[in-house]
Amino acid sequence: MCGIIGYIGKKQNVIELLINGLKSLEYRGYDSAGIAYLEQDKIKVVKALGKIASLEEKTKNLNILSTLGIGHTRWATHGKPSDENSHPHKVGHVTLIHNGIIENYQVLKEMLLQEGYTFQSETDTEIVAGLLDFYLKQENNKLKLIQQVINLLKGSFALGIIFDDDTNHLYAVRQDSPLILGTAENMNFIASDIPAIIKYTNQYILLENKDIAILSEDSIQIFGENLLKVERKLLTSSLSIEEARKTPYEHFMLKEIMEEPSLLEKIFSIYGFGTPSFLEKIPDLSKYKRIHIVACGSAMYAGLVGKSLMEEYADIETSVYIASEYRYQKNFYQEDTLVIFISQSGETADTIACLRLVKKLGIDTLALVNVYGSTIAREVDQVLYLYAGVEIAVATTKAYLLQVTLLSMLVYRTSIAKDLLNKENQEQIKESILHITKILEEFLNKEFRAEASKIIAKASDVFFLGRGIDYAISLEGSLKLKEISYLHSEAYQAGELKHGTISLVEEGTPVITVITDHRLMDKTMSNLKEVKARGAYNVLITTKDLIKNHDGIDLEIAIDEVHPLLQPLLIVPILQMIAYHTAKIRGCDIDQPRNLAKSVTVE
Ligand code: G6P
Repeated sequence: MCGIIGYIGKKQNVIELLINGLKSLEYRGYDSAGIAYLEQDKIKVVKALGKIASLEEKTKNLNILSTLGIGHTRWATHGKPSDENSHPHKVGHVTLIHNGIIENYQVLKEMLLQEGYTFQSETDTEIVAGLLDFYLKQENNKLKLIQQVINLLKGSFALGIIFDDDTNHLYAVRQDSPLILGTAENMNFIASDIPAIIKYTNQYILLENKDIAILSEDSIQIFGENLLKVERKLLTSSLSIEEARKTPYEHFMLKEIMEEPSLLEKIFSIYGFGTPSFLEKIPDLSKYKRIHIVACGSAMYAGLVGKSLMEEYADIETSVYIASEYRYQKNFYQEDTLVIFISQSGETADTIACLRLVKKLGIDTLALVNVYGSTIAREVDQVLYLYAGVEIAVATTKAYLLQVTLLSMLVYRTSIAKDLLNKENQEQIKESILHITKILEEFLNKEFRAEASKIIAKASDVFFLGRGIDYAISLEGSLKLKEISYLHSEAYQAGELKHGTISLVEEGTPVITVITDHRLMDKTMSNLKEVKARGAYNVLITTKDLIKNHDGIDLEIAIDEVHPLLQPLLIVPILQMIAYHTAKIRGCDIDQPRNLAKSVTVE
């Protein structure tokens, strides 16, 4: 969601620096942007509704060399996207940017209104600036002041703060919203994520909850809850400037799909998949009788693929829950329940809330996370990283694929421990591990054709069909399509469509069916024919040589068959490519689809 960048250092073209930083945070999703900077002892604020290009337009003639600035991309929560509601907010002597939500801002606003404050925006953020300004009159020690104010706040926040009377320092604090500090010679930064600062440094510090940081040109001081100085580890990011660019691809999404073969190879090698070391690197879950998987969005859909595999091969009853529901519903645990959390960002507010709730109950937790050192990664009992690198397109592709990959590994590890896989299956899996990345690489580079997208792009409704694991995969295919192409799309269990939704199928309606499961292929083929009889344009995604009778299929995309435990890893990229090409034909903003945010840090 909102993106934060802040700079303090030797004189720089601060406008260019802040705008470049914001551009590299665009992937987080936003609808307006703004900056504040120091110019001759005064803090100036410029804000613009819409894309960063509009902010750039407003600031293009300003060539300001400055030592201090903050910038922000806003994803609207309180108040519509507008210039007034954009950050930074300046109240009295305080200028501030914020990511998160202040839940009790109304009460605090009332209090400030009574004190004579007036506000320009409808945001919760402006109230925090107001509070800091109000208490500044009584408390000039900035550390004590910030602590006093954050103690009044309920909710989540990452704040970057500039005080008019202390422009040699930039202040930052966070609670349940991500914030990093970047450091290089004669310059220090605050940022939501590494890409914003990678042009200047790969050295960064993760702020802990409620840490207050004071940055100056050449120092970073961090204070813990008791306001005593604390040391936080200096980390080195492996992100390169090259990686943060989409070249040679037109979009980050395509770049990230094309990275999938090499990322599969990387994760196999890191966890020793198919080698003896695998047994030590991936946990054996055989002691659990029940598994809950809790996540949001695509991560939840990855969980559904995991459920299918976990029940089939590891014989453990597995339920998948949407985090925003799980946190408020009645859940049933036995002593031998494990809860697995899946999250690319590790910062999704609902998933974090569920993790805390489960931990309080003393239930074992495991998380599959991409972002190193993120909240979920730090708070969970055991974390397995996805090693996807930075994912910049808002709609996840490579991280989803690696979530499914890790789940397959957990299933494999556990089924070995439970002695549920016979020699033949084990051999087939090892064979598949050896060949799968090559198969995928060749398919994406040579075989994939975008014909299906030409038809789909013209439709108003699209349906996906599948049974069992093929249905779980279809759900993600459908989500991807609707997220980036704005087409109405739904995935159905193939046998279920005729209980209602088939009435929407008319001449030319695209229906994308996934068939990889030998046991269910005849059943699903019958469903495919049912929709054909109602005029559907049938696209079939399957494995080579599986379907013998092609009646009713308008377009078939087939890839090599591997062991079913790993087959989803070859089907998912096909669905991602269909979504990508459809959105491209429709001229959509593929990397930053409207209204969506990459990392959903509010409820
Ligand atoms: C947002 C993103 C999705 C993602 C979901 C969960 O909606 O746009 O791509 O699947 O959040 O995010 P997480 O970081 O927890 O995987």
